[in-house]
Amino acid sequence: MEIVIAQDAAAGARAVADEFEQVLRAGDGAVLGLATGSSPVAAYAELIRRHREEGLSFAGARAFLLDEYVGLPADHPQSYHRFIREQLVDHVDLDSSTVISPDGAAADPAEEAERYDAAIAAAGGVDLQILGIGVNGHIAFNEPGSSLASRTRVVALTRSTIEANARFFDRAEDVPRHALSQGLGTIREARRIVLTATGEQKAAAVAQLVEGAVSARWPATVLQLHPHVTVVVDEAAASRLELAEDYRAAR
Ligand code: GLP
Repeated sequence: MEIVIAQDAAAGARAVADEFEQVLRAGDGAVLGLATGSSPVAAYAELIRRHREEGLSFAGARAFLLDEYVGLPADHPQSYHRFIREQLVDHVDLDSSTVISPDGAAADPAEEAERYDAAIAAAGGVDLQILGIGVNGHIAFNEPGSSLASRTRVVALTRSTIEANARFFDRAEDVPRHALSQGLGTIREARRIVLTATGEQKAAAVAQLVEGAVSARWPATVLQLHPHVTVVVDEAAASRLELAEDYRAAR
């Protein structure tokens, strides 16, 4: 893993945006893996700025979202389908029809999960996947206990995730209890991964991700088995890394 301890939020956002810029400039038809949650938002804002001011183009790129709540239609204000359009897609030259997410309103969510995995494979796989991390070490909605080989599937959200995500809903009872999520095995197939985290509340999960044993207890640790992962954190999220000085020195 490459560990980037950014001096401030803006530097972190630039480091993440640099990864996207490399993939987008490498040629036509990049397949992007997009994430929701608050963590990637600053990087998306930086990408929008580069699009407007520096001519960075998303034309010809396609994208797959990591996950979606079960039971929310695409146009629901809290759907991830809508979130990614508001935070990124609507502000750059990425064709909205090529930004695919699992259909949370599908009549048969299990069948939808299989179809989604197949669609990613049919697109040739993801070139660059951006990830956040949950306080309990989840990536996408792969909660502790998820198989490290899991595929896209219906998952039950843990109480801690429901509580963490309640801030986006009027009432905690409104948070869906299930989601369609790319599996850890699916995410691992992305050719390149950048995970970003900020704030003290992520420090324990980041320490496990980078320095813990690979284990379903902390699902993000599966990324230690991937050959091309960059972890971009701020000082607070890096505060429990035992070897932070070594990571700084290595850059
Ligand atoms: C959510 C999402 C994840 C996200 C994580 C952290 O539940 N399913 O994709 O990485 O939790 O969210 P945030 O970035 O808002 O802290």
